[in-house]
Amino acid sequence: MELDAYRITEEPYYRSVGREVPLFEAAYSGRLPVMLKGPTGCGKTRFVEHMAWKLGRPLVTVSCHEDMTASDLVGRHLLDADGTFWSDGPLTLAVRHGAICYLDEIVEARQDTTVVIHALTDDRRILPLEKKGELVRAHPDFQLVISYNPGYQSVLKDLKESTKQRFTALDFGWPDPAVEAEIVASEAKIAGDAATKLVDIARRSRNLRGQGLEEGASTRMLIHAGKLIGAGVPLGEACEIALILPMTDDPDMRDALHNAVAACV
Ligand SMILES: Nc1ncnc2c1ncn2[C@@H]1O[C@H](COP(=O)(O)OP(=O)(O)OP(=O)(O)O)[C@@H](O)[C@H]1O
Ligand SMILES: [Mg+2]
Repeated sequence: MELDAYRITEEPYYRSVGREVPLFEAAYSGRLPVMLKGPTGCGKTRFVEHMAWKLGRPLVTVSCHEDMTASDLVGRHLLDADGTFWSDGPLTLAVRHGAICYLDEIVEARQDTTVVIHALTDDRRILPLEKKGELVRAHPDFQLVISYNPGYQSVLKDLKESTKQRFTALDFGWPDPAVEAEIVASEAKIAGDAATKLVDIARRSRNLRGQGLEEGASTRMLIHAGKLIGAGVPLGEACEIALILPMTDDPDMRDALHNAVAACV
């Protein structure tokens, strides 16, 4: 079938951190659009992969960016030896064949691109393909999911109110320390005590947010540090190259982070 390449056949590991799994299932059962809110590297993508697997739906992911046009989402006419033919874009594929479509970092897209989802995300559930002159009715299994990082928004770059109000939202903060350590230990395949130290360091770095750091160390970064530790790199050095150097070039902030590491080893 059309979307075979988008099917997730093996269960993606996802450690639930709250009520997000049953709430997402409830939203899916009503085919409500869902917005996943949270900082970079906190598990939004992994969560949607897990839910697509759990619900048995293919997952079509689109990374949004500012040069993206509505045609990049819905499709366009292409030319070959026999003339022109229509080629569905990723959103149209998901709408026609009943996938979950995940628009990652939706605020990066321009507003004239974002509005193509409006008729899909209210009770009409239709996608107008203006250039093709077709109105696609969404497959009953289709659902739209978007991600949104509240930390990055400015007045200039935000979703329109009329877009926001079409979505239900799940908040992804940092998990409880014990849960986050379990995730890091499992993903990096390291012992629990090393994972606990990494989470402790991350929590200290997250307290520096706003004082020169845009965001503290993410779960993703801790997994990187954990993988280095697993490969034999000492914890302090692993934190240096996986957490501190990527996050900041500011000497004072690096000092503050070195102190956080020293306090935990
Ligand atoms: N609850 C969780 N269960 C399992 N793994 C997790 C969980 N949270 C985070 N992870 C791990 O952290 C990594 C980063 O998470 P993910 O890629 O989903 O972040 P994200 O929120 O989508 O970030 P971005 O906004 O940058 O795309 C994942 O590859 C996974 O290994
Ligand atoms: Mg992601």
